[in-house]
Amino acid sequence: MDLHILDHRLRVTSIGKSGLARYTHPLIKLIFLRNRSRCKFFSLTETPENYTVVLDEDGFKELQPSEHLQVECSTWLPLNVVSNGNASSSSQAVGVTKIAKSVIAPLAEQHVSVFMLSTYQTDFILVREKDLSVVIHTLQEEFNIYREVGGEYVPVNSQDMQNGLQRNGKDAPKATVHPVLIPENHFCVMSLDPDTLPTIATTLIDVLFYSSSPAGSGSDLNQDLECVKFFSFSLIDGYVSLVMDTDAQRQFPADLLFTSSSGELWRMVRIGGQPLGFDECGIVAQISQPLADSDISAYYISTFSFDHALVPEEDILSVKDMLQRPRKEPAR
Ligand code: ARG
Repeated sequence: MDLHILDHRLRVTSIGKSGLARYTHPLIKLIFLRNRSRCKFFSLTETPENYTVVLDEDGFKELQPSEHLQVECSTWLPLNVVSNGNASSSSQAVGVTKIAKSVIAPLAEQHVSVFMLSTYQTDFILVREKDLSVVIHTLQEEFNIYREVGGEYVPVNSQDMQNGLQRNGKDAPKATVHPVLIPENHFCVMSLDPDTLPTIATTLIDVLFYSSSPAGSGSDLNQDLECVKFFSFSLIDGYVSLVMDTDAQRQFPADLLFTSSSGELWRMVRIGGQPLGFDECGIVAQISQPLADSDISAYYISTFSFDHALVPEEDILSVKDMLQRPRKEPAR
């Protein structure tokens, strides 16, 4: 298996709901006017708390600082696992489940904090640039590692990496078990031909920027129906990915968005009671490990405040059961 370190230097930011109006101009440019910006990695996720925006340095330049914009101070690099076809795994599972044991668990054991971004096409594992040597050192046994340089993939020679040894000799602190919330919404993970983006522009603008004042009711976190607002759009290296609930999906023309042939629906597990921050490690590992043990597919999307796992709707009861049992530390 190959691991690619992609040629994007990313910032993780959040826009407060009350500040959205100040940012719609750059966001519209980043989403719809691709030839006006050099941004190649853009992801926007609306949650009840805020809008999480993950984007490369060219995109980040478009966001003016203000009291509504929070910026995580590190530069993050996206990693991507590429199976070279021959690795015939017995598992049919997709998403973070596939990389739980080979990537997520080893990084957590080395105290490397990750930020996950699953899309329709692939799963990006974001790591801090300053952790890169530890990451390479940790994953080189399992993977052939390549670094993307100007569109070419150059093998990473671990001998070049000086301080790649374990940073921490001490034992991992006992993992905090974060509370989880399982809203009632059903989600789909979709894609579309980027050339047809203009066709869905009005719907996308409506859903992204005006959803908190729908033609009917009010609240984002609709306590009565126990549904939680979650909508994610990403445009990464020319590929579009959308994660939305079935309510939002109904607003889009049915023939333009596509999903995998099985057209499955997903349920969400939101991880975290208090905002999770960026330094704690092992959160993704804690969730993805039991999913991998049970071979349950999962998309995993970290946002500025919380983490979100999406699991097939038919598995939600067993997942709920699994996560509400006291969690064990990842096996060593
Ligand atoms: N850093 C966590 C981990 O390594 C995942 C991200 C949690 N933080 C967040 N803001 N979503 O497992």
